Amino acid sequence: MGIVLGIESSCDETAAALVDSGRRILAQRIASQDDAHRPYGGVVPEIAARAHAERLAPLIAATLADAGMELGDVDAIAATAGPGLIGGVMVGLVTAKALAMAGDKPLIAINHLEGHALSPRLADPELQFPYLLLLVSGGHCQLLLVEGVGRFKRLGTTIDDALGEAFDKTAKILGLGFPGGPAVERLAAEGQAANVPLPRPLLGSAEPHFSFAGLKSAVLRAKESGRYADADIAASFQQAAIDCVLDRSRKALELVTAPTALVVAGGVAANKAVRAALEGLAAEFGLPFVAPPLPLCTDNAAMIAWAGVERLGQSDPLDFAARPRWPLDPDAAPVRGAGVKA
Ligand code: KG4
Ligand code: ZN
Repeated sequence: MGIVLGIESSCDETAAALVDSGRRILAQRIASQDDAHRPYGGVVPEIAARAHAERLAPLIAATLADAGMELGDVDAIAATAGPGLIGGVMVGLVTAKALAMAGDKPLIAINHLEGHALSPRLADPELQFPYLLLLVSGGHCQLLLVEGVGRFKRLGTTIDDALGEAFDKTAKILGLGFPGGPAVERLAAEGQAANVPLPRPLLGSAEPHFSFAGLKSAVLRAKESGRYADADIAASFQQAAIDCVLDRSRKALELVTAPTALVVAGGVAANKAVRAALEGLAAEFGLPFVAPPLPLCTDNAAMIAWAGVERLGQSDPLDFAARPRWPLDPDAAPVRGAGVKA
């Protein structure tokens, strides 16, 4: 039995967790920075980095205490080493390096996206490789065939905004505050999608890529027209987003051979309407549908510790550099029209 301490600090959650190879989360703590960023309507990198630096060490101490453990009881230290806001990533990684050095433990540098991608296996021991993964977070929107630990084939990605970003921008347009995804989901439940016509970018196109910038602009025009109720706009936005996700995921399912399951992970996987739609699609293909429990969807350290468990036996050098960008499938061809996102 191995025990891994996981550290997450790539965006606006400071988090630590202890997970063992029996899939038990022995302890976990998350300090959200929502209040610090709310006045700005989005995550401010400098504020995030400072907050991580202040909070991380005591948070790790408290997490160990929760489990009644000391550093010596841990078999490895796993930390997000990218991609993400580089100041925050460096705080987490440097802390992990110090602990690894002080405790003479292996350091395991984790790709935050791999943390999301493997998180469904923490919750579901039955989930085997290869599976088709829809990874939808605030910074990423990808369809991947997960063939194994560290083995990913990217089938599709976004050419502009990520899906979580589209939810957040819609929330901003509708004055729902920050973070936006859950607020849009709540308001959408009270509205009628059919009342507001919105586009479905890239629907039906041959490769399973995504585009949400045009949808976001259409949401802005709908709001500015003054003709629609906010709840109807939210409902229509969410329905358009789901239609795109279903169409693109269906295309990806047609392209892969013998996946064991359709899996969703990342912050937007916490959306119940998105989950329900994908569950229906999986059933159409006769596949199991797997989504992590809600607290494992948004950023957390248990998924980083679990990725460390999946990599137990490996170790990374203490001069491993933090990576602002770190694609899961470095061989994926660049997408025409794609902006800076991986
Ligand atoms: O994975 P995550 O916590 O952080 C990143 O790695 O980006 O994802 C955060 C994103 C945000 O854009 C947030 O608005 C979105 O996930 N999100 C949701 C919901 N909960 C979080 N989007 C739609 N519905 C939700 N219930
Ligand atoms: Zn994330």
